[in-house]
Amino acid sequence: MQTITITGGQTLHGTIHPAAAKNSVLPLLAASLLCGGPCCLRGVPALSDVDTSLALLRAVGAPAERRGADLYTRPVTPGSLCGEIPPPLAGAMRSSVFYLAPLLCRAGMVRLPLPGGCRLGPRPVDIHLAGLAAMGARVELEGEAATLRRFGPLQAVDFTLRLPSVGATMTLLMAACCAMGTTVLRGAACEPEVCDLADFLCACGASITGAGTPVLVIQGRRPLGGALHTPLPDRIAAATYAAAVAAAGGRITVQGCAPQYYRAFLDFLECCGVQIETGERDVVIARDPALPLRGGQQLCANAWPAFATDTAPLAAAVLLQADAPSEIYDYLFANRFACAAGFAAMGADCRARGRALYIGGGAALQAARVTAPDLRGGAALAVAALAARGTTLLQDPGHIRRGYADLPGELASLGGLVLAEGNRPVHAAARI
Ligand code: EPZ
Repeated sequence: MQTITITGGQTLHGTIHPAAAKNSVLPLLAASLLCGGPCCLRGVPALSDVDTSLALLRAVGAPAERRGADLYTRPVTPGSLCGEIPPPLAGAMRSSVFYLAPLLCRAGMVRLPLPGGCRLGPRPVDIHLAGLAAMGARVELEGEAATLRRFGPLQAVDFTLRLPSVGATMTLLMAACCAMGTTVLRGAACEPEVCDLADFLCACGASITGAGTPVLVIQGRRPLGGALHTPLPDRIAAATYAAAVAAAGGRITVQGCAPQYYRAFLDFLECCGVQIETGERDVVIARDPALPLRGGQQLCANAWPAFATDTAPLAAAVLLQADAPSEIYDYLFANRFACAAGFAAMGADCRARGRALYIGGGAALQAARVTAPDLRGGAALAVAALAARGTTLLQDPGHIRRGYADLPGELASLGGLVLAEGNRPVHAAARI
């Protein structure tokens, strides 16, 4: 088990450049299965979910490899693809669900054991399945596995998602590219990562309009070639660095991730008294640690463009020290705040009640031994530890590396006293 040690009390300074977004790269890799030409995704960080996706692609018969920072996939004939997703790979990440549509379209069948990922509460796949069934797939559920088959090509539909699921929108977007006729998806998710998938598919030859709005129109069965694509920068990683400097104090520049991708989080930080200067693609975040953070915040996490659910634990980490109580409510996930136990172990007055998190504020945070309960909850504990007195031991049963290639090294590069794996220094404090 990896342990991250974080000694609080250091202010952060320097420049940091978020890598490509996990939540773009993972569906893009799955979508490459639809392509009749080679694809290259540029600047992809070495996340464990990316490694799992490359292994999954190879397991179903699709050549995929990393060369330096770039990922390469090659086209495959339907006959050489296998629709059986190995249970250990499906169980290792939620994003195995992105393989439903491409394997159904290309291999004619797909069997998906229960997808894994963060335990944020129930994460059904009913909308994915309902949309694919409406397009003509036969869906069989057996225990915790879903098997989908098609007999002939999928058919275009006019389909309304019962809620704007990011994953289901991506699944149906991929399926619609292969369906006969023009599909209309209503109630679609509008997250930037959905637009990135649409941009990639259009670069490959698809015809998609309306990405970034709730209504997508897709002309199916246009031949898809390959593409060279630079995925979106990781807006949640950008918010993580911003939260870190808000909690610990200092001044950093987050480069290459336009402020509109995490505007709601930057607005929240400004309300807390953090200084934010925005450029076209860069944001400067500064906080004097001698000045208190303003509490009294009421945040509601919901689908884009609302406050992002993935940034809710990071906001909580900032509010622990604020001068008044705050509350965060998450409309998307029932168990978003499993990190509350770790915050409480650090001395914070912090209680999760269902979807709501109450934060008393005014905490003089103390180092503790804590465990990352999930990806963003783990990052939030690291942020809180930067502001705590003493050395926190953050036990990470593999969660943080699913979404950050080297969070300890990145925080150390900004001057944080952060070490990974048995006190081995990860980075010299290399400030740009
Ligand atoms: C994506 O998950 C992200 N993951 C999540 O990030 C993110 O928190 C989430 O979108 C919301 O922005 C990836 O992109 C890999 P949803 P996804 O389908 O697609 C319900 C991270 O830390 N729902 O929009 O799984 C679902 O239960 C991860 O990077 C159904 O009921 O999210 C949830 O309550 C964590 N039926 C809500 O919709 C369905 O068929 C939103 O889920 C699908 C979803």
